[in-house]
Amino acid sequence: MLPLFAFAAANREQAEKRLAELREQLNYHAYRYYVLDDPLIADVEYDRLFQELLRLEEQYPELVTPDSPSQRVGGAPLTAFAQVTREIPMLSLENAFGDQDLRDFEERLRRFLNSNEPLAYVAEPKLDGLAVELVYEGGIFTLGATRGDGVTGEEITANLKTLATVPLRLRPPAKGKVPARLAVRGEAYLSLTGFRELNAQRAQSGEALFANPRNAAAGSLRQLDSRITAQRPLAFFAYGVDDPTHLPCATQHDLLQYLAACGFATNPHTRRCPDLESVIAHFHHLATIRHDLPYEIDGMVVKVDDFAVQKRLGTKARSPRWAIAAKFPASQATTRLVNVEFGVGRTGAITPVALLEPVEIGGVRVSRATLHNEDEVRRKDLRLGDTVLVQRAGDVIPEVVKPVIEQRTGSETPIRMPTNCPECGHPLVRPAEEAVTRCPNPACPAQRLRSLIHFASKAGMDIEGLGKKVMEQLVQEGLVRDIPDIFRLRAEDLAPLDGWGEKSAANAVAAIAARKKTSLAKLLAAIGIRHVGEVTAQLLEEHFGTMEALLRATEADFLEVAGIGPQVAASLADFFGDPAARQMLATLQELGLTIAASPSAREWLRLSGTLFLFTGALLHFSRSEAKARVKELGGQVASAMSSKVTHLVCGEKPGSKITKAQELGIRILNEQEFEALLNG
Ligand code: IVH
Repeated sequence: MLPLFAFAAANREQAEKRLAELREQLNYHAYRYYVLDDPLIADVEYDRLFQELLRLEEQYPELVTPDSPSQRVGGAPLTAFAQVTREIPMLSLENAFGDQDLRDFEERLRRFLNSNEPLAYVAEPKLDGLAVELVYEGGIFTLGATRGDGVTGEEITANLKTLATVPLRLRPPAKGKVPARLAVRGEAYLSLTGFRELNAQRAQSGEALFANPRNAAAGSLRQLDSRITAQRPLAFFAYGVDDPTHLPCATQHDLLQYLAACGFATNPHTRRCPDLESVIAHFHHLATIRHDLPYEIDGMVVKVDDFAVQKRLGTKARSPRWAIAAKFPASQATTRLVNVEFGVGRTGAITPVALLEPVEIGGVRVSRATLHNEDEVRRKDLRLGDTVLVQRAGDVIPEVVKPVIEQRTGSETPIRMPTNCPECGHPLVRPAEEAVTRCPNPACPAQRLRSLIHFASKAGMDIEGLGKKVMEQLVQEGLVRDIPDIFRLRAEDLAPLDGWGEKSAANAVAAIAARKKTSLAKLLAAIGIRHVGEVTAQLLEEHFGTMEALLRATEADFLEVAGIGPQVAASLADFFGDPAARQMLATLQELGLTIAASPSAREWLRLSGTLFLFTGALLHFSRSEAKARVKELGGQVASAMSSKVTHLVCGEKPGSKITKAQELGIRILNEQEFEALLNG
């Protein structure tokens, strides 16, 4: 018996070593990619390492550690959040509005310190997200919590683990080792792109919209099911610790460098300022670049740099004396709501758009603002002629916040939703469970145009050179009527058109050809299935893997996908059950569109990391069918027995493989068990 046992132990030992290597490599490459924005290896290489890790962890579940990158994806949902009480409270900040308030702040510091010594500061962008604390013990992320009331917050460790910019293990800083305990504080936030995509999805499915990225970040982190958090592109910037006394840092500036060395993202627009004038200069600088940043900031936090001076200054009841938040003027303005226009989206959704008396907000002239949908109009009780508050918060698309009721004169008139499509005249419908009114006419020219524009756009197939204007022209000219037509375009059709030439025509045709090889997720997000955006498309690719599997799936199958609810499942079943849609997919295939399996998607399939071997005849499957089913679910098929095989499927009259499998401790399945495994 000894040799067998030794063999397993050696394997286990090897696996343990390899897993440690893989964790370190993967964590390092994720850090290069997400924190430094400077990847060292290609995505496919990362995926390959990740897959190897998953395979080994599946084989040796007892070797999974809390800092394994596999632990980022959410586990089982919680029933409630636990409370976390901290010894050193997370304080809030007093506000300053403008230069004079900042000068007064320094004046107060001087009076308190009773000295004229020079004061240096650190000025950091004030992100508008959610303050959280991350506790590391022995270098491992063990506890994450919201600020709550400062002393007591909610434990959201599993949710915070899903953020790629939250290190699961600290990197040892250059000099010295990782501290025994480190409580890092910072802001978890959602990028503007993330916010916009999330709201677009919610608008599509008739869910209430998030008012701003802050609310969206808070809502995403306060999810009992961390798999939902994992789908939201949240990030984290570190800006402090609970107590810097035991760290090798004398100043806030040192501390930020120390945190960066530990693997945290720190904000690149932070400046060390030798005096207050340079603080004020940086405030003005941030105010001019704030709208170019990929996330929302609502001001700048000024901190006295020297920890010894911070200590002398101390704290008041809720806020430290040594720091202040300099707030930007709000990017809101009031103006008059002149009229409302109704646009038709690609899924037929009717969107009310406010036409405004032009007004300048945050340096941009605004004359249109979205009203989202009928319910939002009703909820806000907006009327034509109202004075309205308009903001450009978190979105380049401005929105109407509310009417200024005090300024009503009585001459305002209600906003009427149209009963017929403003583009094709077809009567509109509004399903009882949705907030969205739609034009149900699949031939509605506005919808067709919008869906073609979407298909070619960045959120769809990302076909270079086929933007909105070009697509409008192609439809106008009758060259493109449906999606397959795009792949039928020839350079000689395009070259004679207005504004085109031989070269641009050839480029466009080449750009289209370049997208003929695509991923399932990309195609699904592009073809305009209602309620299916990039995130759901990714889930579908991960679950089904192939178009064939999707075409076979029933509504019940769609419901089985984690993250897909009844509304989306029904929409998918409708789409894939529609002969016209199936025909379109078949035509795309005839026109040369092929779907390449993406490795990053495959690794999440149910049989990922498995290696199957078959022996004996199966009753219900041909051998090639059985192999195909395994591969569809992400598994691999071996041609001979080896220690790498994970499952042996035995049909009638199995051969000697079964004895070998028993020796190697490989899982042995009969046909029934195999079928059950395939069906999940
Ligand atoms: S320091 C003791 N630094 O602003 C200092 N706060 O009222 C307390 N915030 O919600 C916080 N960016 O999360 C600090 N660079 C930054 C910040 C920042 C955003 C938030 C913080 C809290 C609020 C403070």
